[in-house]
Amino acid sequence: MTARLLTLTRPDDLHLHLRDGAALRDALPWTVRQFARAIVMPNLKPPVVQVQQAVDYRNRILAALPAGADFTPLMTLYLTDATSPQLVQQARDSGIIHAFKLYPAGATTNSDSGVTELKRIYPALDAMQRLGMPLLIHGEVTDPEVDVFDREAVFIDRHLVALRRAFPALKIVLEHITTAHAADFVRACGERDDRGAPLQAATLTAHHLLHNRNAMFSGGLRPHYYCLPVLKRERHRQALLDAATSGDDRFFLGTDSAPHARGAKESACGCAGCFTAVNALELYATAFEQRDALHRLDDFASRFGAAFYGLPRNVGSVTLERADWQVPASLPYAETDIVPLQAGDILPWRLSSAPGQRADT
Ligand code: DOR
Ligand code: ZN
Repeated sequence: MTARLLTLTRPDDLHLHLRDGAALRDALPWTVRQFARAIVMPNLKPPVVQVQQAVDYRNRILAALPAGADFTPLMTLYLTDATSPQLVQQARDSGIIHAFKLYPAGATTNSDSGVTELKRIYPALDAMQRLGMPLLIHGEVTDPEVDVFDREAVFIDRHLVALRRAFPALKIVLEHITTAHAADFVRACGERDDRGAPLQAATLTAHHLLHNRNAMFSGGLRPHYYCLPVLKRERHRQALLDAATSGDDRFFLGTDSAPHARGAKESACGCAGCFTAVNALELYATAFEQRDALHRLDDFASRFGAAFYGLPRNVGSVTLERADWQVPASLPYAETDIVPLQAGDILPWRLSSAPGQRADT
């Protein structure tokens, strides 16, 4: 019997953490094996706030690519209270910067230099709107009074609705959405730019499509399922699956693969982040199959995100095979090791051919 195959146009990861140094060296090849391009998050220490820092970081990524790899990093800058309209213009002129990332100060990993009050960046947002530069949002309030499970919904109601109204033509991606409320918000924004691309979009991670918050507590505390925004109830997971598999071009793939060494996760105060670069497409295929929607995966993974960012569709393909595959228990990472999401589990899909595939999986 021949295996069932699923061939996709080479996909893009529209939300990725690659880190730096030895961590970059060990994380990058996993993404390159699956994706042609990725929007690279700027929350390094120190954060990537200036154009020259992004140019240098991009060069380090290119230098860390495995020999013969065909991969394009799409750089972003980290918004701070000091980001000026002039800097937005420089970023646009650089040709390598594709978006600005908004971290509310204190919301997540390396967000200490983030924005303390949205009004402070209104001049920068005005320039971004004028220049067609997308704003990528980590949409969570940091107010300690707000329950951690409500922080995304409260961000939308307290901040995003007003921001959307103040900048009706700004291209916005609400990143790694986790709630029905977020999906509804995106769906309610129907405006498009002059290329016909949506002005309001959202990325969806594989972990939020596959897991609800029980995963963090099943049989004990499971730090590898802890990320931000945190996993939510099953009804929200179902709403995210609805959005991802609906064929709506406002929802596209962004893994938010966020590597942290095992020791930083399995700790009294474990870091937020799921490492999914190793098995991203396998995880998404597993999620889409739950809805008999594998025919929708190509658009979600390879077309909608590129169209939003005004990028050409990739050439070439990757093929997944319907065959059991065990996720490795751990992998080498920055002189220690790292635990991928669903380590040790059997997934029903396996990447069978891709440019630059590593032989050791
Ligand atoms: O879980 C997360 N990890 N969420 C984020 O927003 C940041 C990321 C990281 O950089 O580790
Ligand atoms: Zn992220």
